[in-house]
Amino acid sequence: MASVYIHIPFCERKCQYCDFVSYVGKLECLDKYVDSLINEIKSFDAIDIDTVYIGGGTPSLLSEKSLSKIFDTLNKYHHLDKNAEISIECNPNSLSEEKLVAFKKVGINRISLGVQSLNNEVLKSIGRLHNRAEALNALNLAKKYFDNISVDLMVGLPNQTIQDVVDDINALCPLVNHISVYSLILEEGTPLYDRVQSKQVILPDEDETIAMYDTACKELKKYDFIRYEVSNFTINKPCKHNIAYWTQKDYYGFGVASHSFVNGVRYSNTESLNDYLSGVTCVESYSIDQKIAKEEYIMLRLRMSQGIDMKDFSMRFGESLETKKDIINKLIDDGLLCEKDNHLKLTDLGFHLLNYVVLQLVD
Ligand SMILES: C[S@@+](CC[C@H](N)C(=O)[O-])C[C@H]1O[C@@H](n2cnc3c(N)ncnc32)[C@H](O)[C@@H]1O
Ligand code: SF4
Repeated sequence: MASVYIHIPFCERKCQYCDFVSYVGKLECLDKYVDSLINEIKSFDAIDIDTVYIGGGTPSLLSEKSLSKIFDTLNKYHHLDKNAEISIECNPNSLSEEKLVAFKKVGINRISLGVQSLNNEVLKSIGRLHNRAEALNALNLAKKYFDNISVDLMVGLPNQTIQDVVDDINALCPLVNHISVYSLILEEGTPLYDRVQSKQVILPDEDETIAMYDTACKELKKYDFIRYEVSNFTINKPCKHNIAYWTQKDYYGFGVASHSFVNGVRYSNTESLNDYLSGVTCVESYSIDQKIAKEEYIMLRLRMSQGIDMKDFSMRFGESLETKKDIINKLIDDGLLCEKDNHLKLTDLGFHLLNYVVLQLVD
């Protein structure tokens, strides 16, 4: 079984912090883009698919006709498992009752809504097109049709306070069963980066951002949301698609700037919309050697709260983590790692220092 990611690189407006591959002012290309997607999907031998993730960009901009074309192609050329998890990323302002009905019709069964914050001032300062009321309306509408709903929240945003985070979680938890919480990454080249550099915008400092994240974790716990990955929390439905990435299963990425990982080889598609529209797909591929596979295993397994299964590690890589006992013991003494039932896991403090811990464990 494999996972499929489909990238829809179009947005109505570029958010101030975003450096994902998504184009603004090119919505007239959407139909042609879907035709190119279909050609790419058809070009592969039949894949057994158990998760599909339509991400972006703003996939909720897709029309019912485009969605039907995509799913007709997946069903005709590949084997889409009848219990497959099929997610779509949505923005509150491009979600309507009509869209939700269309999603259901093609078999989508999970909605991931980009909320980011419910404070109107914060939303404005990061250039979101929606306000609090629109986000909550979109969620309530989605609830009429779907029972598997996730929202994305961000912390460390301009004008955001710890109390905002508490309020957001209190308003959102009763409406959803999954929340992703991301600390703002200030990406060079984004408008927000420039505004921070020129001191037009002051961001919360690192300690405040960490406090916001810890507050989010504490509040989520009150609603029985379990942290199953560094940025992901759920009451009962972890995202199967993302778990497939973190456990290094095969996945196929279709669309501009998407990546695939099949039989130990990583493939990258072109980031140029024009090239993709004229039929260019994969522009780079390389095999993952044992050293990289091992480093990625350590990094990806530590992201998940179940951690590294040390027996599984030894079986896969023919070596034991016992060789790193001194480093592991130091990380345990520093309160960053813990060992339980032959699994190595990050502590709450360790989750904040994931990159540091990974660097210590890979050499
Ligand atoms: C692929 S994005 C697209 C989702 C959707 N287009 C939206 O914005 O609502 C998925 C999520 O990544 C998060 N994200 C995007 N840029 C980020 C950044 N610079 N730092 C932290 N999180 C970011 C946001 O929470 C966003 O909802
Ligand atoms: S809507 Fe999402 S993908 Fe589009 S610019 Fe904003 S954060 Fe990026």
